[in-house]
Amino acid sequence: MGIQEEFIQELKSRTDIVDVVSSYVNLKKAGRNMVGLCPFHNEKTPSFNVSRENAFFHCFGCGVGGDVITFIKRIENLDYVDAVKFLAQRAGMSMPEDNGRSSGYTDLKNRIYEANREAARFYHKQLYTPQGRQALEYLRGRGLTEKTIIHFGLGYSPQSRFELVNYLKGKGFSNAELVQANLANLSQRGYPFDRFSDRVMFPIIDLRGNVIAFGGRIMSDIKPKYLNTSDTPVFNKSRNLFALQFAKNKANGQLILVEGYMDVIALHQAGFENAVATLGTALTNEQAMIIKRYCDEVVICYDSDEAGQKATARAIPILRDTGLHIRVLTVPNGKDPDEYIKNYGEQGAARFRMLLDKSGNDIEFRLSKLRKRYNFELTEQRIEYLTEAARILSELDNSIEQDVYLSRLAEELNVEKTAVKNQMQKFRRRNIREAQKQERRNIQDTISARNDKINNEKFYNLRAANAEEALIALMMTNPDIAQSVFSQLPPEKFITSFNRKVYEILKKYAESGGEFTLTDISGEFSNDEVSQIAKILASHPRENDPEQAAREYLSVLEEENDKLTPEQIAAADTQTLMEQLQKLKEKKK
Ligand code: UTP
Ligand code: MN
Repeated sequence: MGIQEEFIQELKSRTDIVDVVSSYVNLKKAGRNMVGLCPFHNEKTPSFNVSRENAFFHCFGCGVGGDVITFIKRIENLDYVDAVKFLAQRAGMSMPEDNGRSSGYTDLKNRIYEANREAARFYHKQLYTPQGRQALEYLRGRGLTEKTIIHFGLGYSPQSRFELVNYLKGKGFSNAELVQANLANLSQRGYPFDRFSDRVMFPIIDLRGNVIAFGGRIMSDIKPKYLNTSDTPVFNKSRNLFALQFAKNKANGQLILVEGYMDVIALHQAGFENAVATLGTALTNEQAMIIKRYCDEVVICYDSDEAGQKATARAIPILRDTGLHIRVLTVPNGKDPDEYIKNYGEQGAARFRMLLDKSGNDIEFRLSKLRKRYNFELTEQRIEYLTEAARILSELDNSIEQDVYLSRLAEELNVEKTAVKNQMQKFRRRNIREAQKQERRNIQDTISARNDKINNEKFYNLRAANAEEALIALMMTNPDIAQSVFSQLPPEKFITSFNRKVYEILKKYAESGGEFTLTDISGEFSNDEVSQIAKILASHPRENDPEQAAREYLSVLEEENDKLTPEQIAAADTQTLMEQLQKLKEKKK
């Protein structure tokens, strides 16, 4: 992993996991642990546990877990080395020199960041050359000022398919790096050529200021209108938002979500610097949770055409599930925000401000959509409308808000308010029951061995796997017991291979004289595997008599080893197989 053991130890001792997690999650005390709403999945009742004492977190809802480094890896979307750097900075420690020992993958990512940065500079400079002139005129023609063009680092990719490739190769980048960065494609003969050609370029920048991708707009009617960087080692389009690096500092409790790059840019230029956009796909859960990190209220301002309205309807439940307050701004006359602002010239910003101020919440959006489907002349349809409306209102958590809408509905259709209210409460009780059921189901799913994706042998070896896990947890929380377990129990006695791997690594760390807490060993495992280990730790409370407990688990394992069926033996590795056959023979005698 490339970072010195002592450094990690020091970092660990200076970092309080509860402190770190608290900057992302609202934690409350519950017994020895702290609990809150999981930042990695949507939930309404807290199943996210953090243990200060044992320095790990675990969510019983979605199964994610690990130590503080894993937490930062996941929530900030960083690799191991960067997560350590992040925490080191926070703890006021300076990183020891890498000595070129950082992982190959981290090296590749850094090369891609550099290539992207150079490419962005190259594209930008092209705007001010004769061949880029037309692109510059295009941007000006769309109403962008010089300042905006520079602020967003806009650029132009030349028509020739070799200029960027040649330029970057001149800077020492390899063909492989350019292809991995998705700045170039490979020809059939294996030569790289520029991915973007004759397009206006929009760099996409992450929260740390790295250029991670590009969108490129064609200036004619050729399709596709926008070409975007595909996912690369540094870019995942469902986990990033355009202009969030600017908007997060201007949010002040609210972000505006629009569809396009140009909408964002026009809004920022008009003074609405809290606008962001998705990157050519529908809004994802991950993006919704990122938005939630920076504000309490989101204004959806998609195109007012049919596609835009559909996208709005789809985005609402995703955003609502994160607990965000939602408003919907509909731009009149089928325009998108960019066209609207441009259309009103000097008045554009003021006009948009007015739209923003009168934008209703998502309940209003949904009620008005619903209303259009019914004919109120017909009693049956009126009842149906009221029932559906009551269902929508039942999702509101704020009872004052609920009451306002109830009154409005009752008045609108000239019915008793209590009738609508009763119907709504029926739905509300049902929602709560459903949510509780769903969460119980989630918990059962993750706990049940059948759904154990990391350790898929567990289902068939339940008793053994449970003893293995209990033993692993016991050793990790009682290092003094661990020594005697290591001397009595060879790794071959572990029946499920994932648990055996964990045990072998614990043993390796112990033998080299080191510690083997989750933090020490996490570098040896994937994110999901670390989650699995954290889950094991979380589901095994501290034992009162660890020695007695160890003896029990050891004897369970011995018994289970003796019971192995021929198929199970066949699945084990050869050396173990020989030993076990031997043992079976001895037993028969
Ligand atoms: P729009 O077609 O609404 O484009 O697509 P726009 O932003 O209004 O663009 P202009 O004003 O015509 O220049 C909205 C977003 O969908 C993605 C882009 O992110 C775009 O900003 N998109 C659209 C693509 O990725 N590819 C496409 O071919 C079209
Ligand atoms: Mn547009």
